[in-house]
Amino acid sequence: MDTRILKEKILELKEKRNAVIVAHNYQIDDVQEIADMVGDSLALSRYCASSTKDIIVFCGVHFMAESAKILSPEKTVLLPEIDAGCPLANMVSVEALREEKKKYPEAAVVCYINTSADVKAECDICCTSSNAVKVISSLKEKDILFVPDQNLGSYIAKMVPDKNIILWKGFCPTHHRVRAEEVRKIKELHPDALLLVHPECRPEVVELADFVGSTKQIIDFAQQSPAKKFVIGTEMGVLHKLQKDNPGKTFYLMSPGMVCPNMKKTSLQSVYNALNEMKYEININEEIRLKARACLERMLQI
Ligand code: 13P
Repeated sequence: MDTRILKEKILELKEKRNAVIVAHNYQIDDVQEIADMVGDSLALSRYCASSTKDIIVFCGVHFMAESAKILSPEKTVLLPEIDAGCPLANMVSVEALREEKKKYPEAAVVCYINTSADVKAECDICCTSSNAVKVISSLKEKDILFVPDQNLGSYIAKMVPDKNIILWKGFCPTHHRVRAEEVRKIKELHPDALLLVHPECRPEVVELADFVGSTKQIIDFAQQSPAKKFVIGTEMGVLHKLQKDNPGKTFYLMSPGMVCPNMKKTSLQSVYNALNEMKYEININEEIRLKARACLERMLQI
């Protein structure tokens, strides 16, 4: 089907179903264009929790749709591509986490939002890349068991030096693959550009950055900065909004490999199919959901 017609059909179906479409900043341009809200993981979970629509079509990856369902059990949450997972989230299992917790009985257990509902159910509080430093700083415990992203954990440890952050060995393959050597080369090519990176990048890359933040914080920083050129150290999906909102500025991707294959699975056709066939519905065991909700809500209260 023609893109324009497909977009019209999606909007028609959305009205008919009383649905809202949300998209993460890493989604393909066409999907971002038809979404009611495009944002980072924190903004999207807040938005879904406050939406009054019956159906949430979550254009993102599995843990994000799960978070929406955890906070809004009365709504139908649809993930257009059921195989859109997050390799980082899959790097921690409930069983492995329970074993690790036994080693640190005094520690607060903090999970990145990039975790499954059953892992969240095992944790004291959740955080996203935009509020991780604030969440960890708010805790009374000195020892913090942080899962699953070692790079975000290292960044927090640097920013909150009075805490003892116990790292898990997980990583986002899209961010972790970029090494400092490659970044130095692109900085040499564009010496007048600012380097903005996501904290899922390796510490050696974060070290070289002018600004570190979530996808939304990177987008806001570039918008407000008087600088004209930026090297962007996160998934290439953010370039859509950056280029659209800042026609006078130039953006270079830190590495051509910064593409999340899971985020790219969702297409206009899959959004249409989701609304037309009401698939794929996300459901969570109620006992797990209630525990995971406590973990997420503690974060949202901060
Ligand atoms: P944001 O918190 O910036 O949305 O990042 C989520 C994510 O999965 C980054 O890889």
